[in-house]
Amino acid sequence: MLSRKLRHCRVNRVNLLLFMALTAVTLTLVKNHNKTLFYSSRNLELIGENPNVHVNCTKIIRGDVEEIQNAKLNLITVNYKSQLSRLTEKDYMNMTKDCYSFTKDRKYILYPLSKEESDFPIAYSIVIHHKIDMLERLLRSIYMPQNYYCIHVDKKSSESFLSAVKAIASCFENVFIASQLENVVYASWTRVQADLNCMKDLNHANARWKYLINLCGMDFPIKTNREMVQMLKALKGENSLETEKMPAHKETRWRKHYEISGSGIQKTDIDKMPPPFQIPVFSGSAYFVLSRALVNYVLTNDKIRTFLEWSKDTFSPDEFLWATLHRIPKVPGSVPANSKYDVSDMNSIARFVKWQYLEGDVSNGAPYPPCSGAHVRSVCVFGAGDLQFMLGKHHLFANKFDMDVDPIAIQCLEEHLRHKALYTERHG
Ligand SMILES: *[C@@H]1O[C@H](CO)[C@@H](O)[C@H](O)[C@H]1NC(C)=O
Ligand SMILES: *[C@@H]1O[C@H](CO)[C@@H](O)[C@H](O)[C@H]1NC(C)=O
Repeated sequence: MLSRKLRHCRVNRVNLLLFMALTAVTLTLVKNHNKTLFYSSRNLELIGENPNVHVNCTKIIRGDVEEIQNAKLNLITVNYKSQLSRLTEKDYMNMTKDCYSFTKDRKYILYPLSKEESDFPIAYSIVIHHKIDMLERLLRSIYMPQNYYCIHVDKKSSESFLSAVKAIASCFENVFIASQLENVVYASWTRVQADLNCMKDLNHANARWKYLINLCGMDFPIKTNREMVQMLKALKGENSLETEKMPAHKETRWRKHYEISGSGIQKTDIDKMPPPFQIPVFSGSAYFVLSRALVNYVLTNDKIRTFLEWSKDTFSPDEFLWATLHRIPKVPGSVPANSKYDVSDMNSIARFVKWQYLEGDVSNGAPYPPCSGAHVRSVCVFGAGDLQFMLGKHHLFANKFDMDVDPIAIQCLEEHLRHKALYTERHG
């Protein structure tokens, strides 16, 4: 409790000072512990953060073929990975001992960049289990003082990982660990429960936030906070997520009873009852953009509770549950079950994903060009060459990114979004 108090004192002082900083746009004096520091937009740029990366991100973002080739060569150079110093759990434990230095050195944006954004807070549910530097870069790229961040750390994660996440969270008043942690078993109900735990916590944490977005450790934003706010406003209270007709071959996922056994999920021969209230089941994904009203409804409505209970022993309920809720009449922000309202992953704004079997020649009917990174379970882990195309799409986030596959893609994306938020949007 004492440490909690201390951290609030520390953050409040920083916040207060940063609030004062709002009045001057480009150059503001911030005083702390007799230290005098300059806070300016220039200091918040992420360009050239890693001096060992000799790649021009401006060219990468524009899709320059030569520069993308150059980035690829960089990646396969033997020395490259050893030169790229990645921050470890220990590093974060150390860095976060002094939250002021941590947020400054890591270039967190600690004041709202516009009134429009501060009037429209976003809540995040982040479900992760490893790779602390990926989490921290994701957090840094979406962090704004007016937003709320609930991080669900898998119960299976190492103690040192959990400690490092806690240490990072301790530096922010609006970042916290979910109050209840699940052992997340692939394709099981536990994945949904993790998000529900965060939903509950976020709902109690604050009354102001307007939309909830869920993320995992391999997601990265492809829009600035301001762009997200504008797109969320344009939804006018509607949810945005993939929701389509359930393909016949996937029906077994909820027609049969499944059980968790060991680290996986097993199908049984036991037939399940049909969905309660004859709710038609739709197909979708784990990713969603949900209105605040829907979150309230899910947490309090008896009919929804019955449907959630029924879903608990199914296969991958995350891939039909949200899609189905969004088609139930009277659910806030939902759309009719009629097929005219089906939404594909490309038409929803929740997530840009490249499925290997759909990649191809866009001028010849493919939804997206081939993956420039590597594939994991038929999904593209993006490379630098994937950025230009995805940045032209309307999605808020893209999945998957991985420092172990292409750190340049992540760095260029970070640089681009930060620069856009600091300059193009404020002065352009
Ligand atoms: C990167 O490329 C852009 C576009 O070609 C160019 O304007 C800029 O000067 C380059 N930056 C560096 C550091 O070479
Ligand atoms: C902790 O951080 C300080 C200051 O950045 C550094 O000098 C020190 O070597 C670090 N200690 C460890 C154990 O990494």
